[in-house]
Amino acid sequence: MKFFVDTADTKDIAELAATGLLDGVTTNPSLIAKSGRDFMEVTKEICALVNGPVSAEVVALDHPTMMKEAEILRKIADNVCIKVPLTIDGLKTCKALTEDGTMVNVTLCFSANQALLAAKAGATFISPFVGRHDDNGFDGMQLISDIRLIYDNYDFETAILVASVRHAVHVLESAKIGADVMTAPPAVIKSLFNHVLTEKGIQGFLADWAKTGQSIG
Ligand code: E4P
Repeated sequence: MKFFVDTADTKDIAELAATGLLDGVTTNPSLIAKSGRDFMEVTKEICALVNGPVSAEVVALDHPTMMKEAEILRKIADNVCIKVPLTIDGLKTCKALTEDGTMVNVTLCFSANQALLAAKAGATFISPFVGRHDDNGFDGMQLISDIRLIYDNYDFETAILVASVRHAVHVLESAKIGADVMTAPPAVIKSLFNHVLTEKGIQGFLADWAKTGQSIG
């Protein structure tokens, strides 16, 4: 499963990219606003930090204006992936862009039927929002299982990008279901390294090592 980080904070992206575990980045208008940075400038900087896809979202709601915005965004770098909402105009834009060889991430997916439509429109990625689904009393991980089943039934190539990931269990369940990608905030990705027994083990080994009076090198 690929790991994308869901942020527009370049410091966090650079830190995670240095681990070699980062396969891409997702942003959205809220994350750009949170960064306080200029959209074009920060997106260009992010694209230079990672080799994989960097999702940059259009804000227009109609197809012609979405195409104009996508035209501007895709010139930023070769690894820009245009993010469009799961609407009729969004999917028209998705079809036009993917037919032209541009990566497209269809966002704000909350049902398996919507995911089916996005795959039929040739989406590179579908982004089902598991956290927001859970927040509203639905089962986010069940949505991922349903989409996996449907995509496998018809050999759709659209990658399932689990979004709105809130905690480590979402990551674990995504991997068990066979999602292609998950995108999570930096803190959630960093939390995956943690285990109380790892920390305890390190402390124990260091304490015993100190007793030897030795050093390496
Ligand atoms: C995905 O691409 C979205 O940017 C993101 O995962 C939304 O997450 P949220 O529900 O925590 O805002």
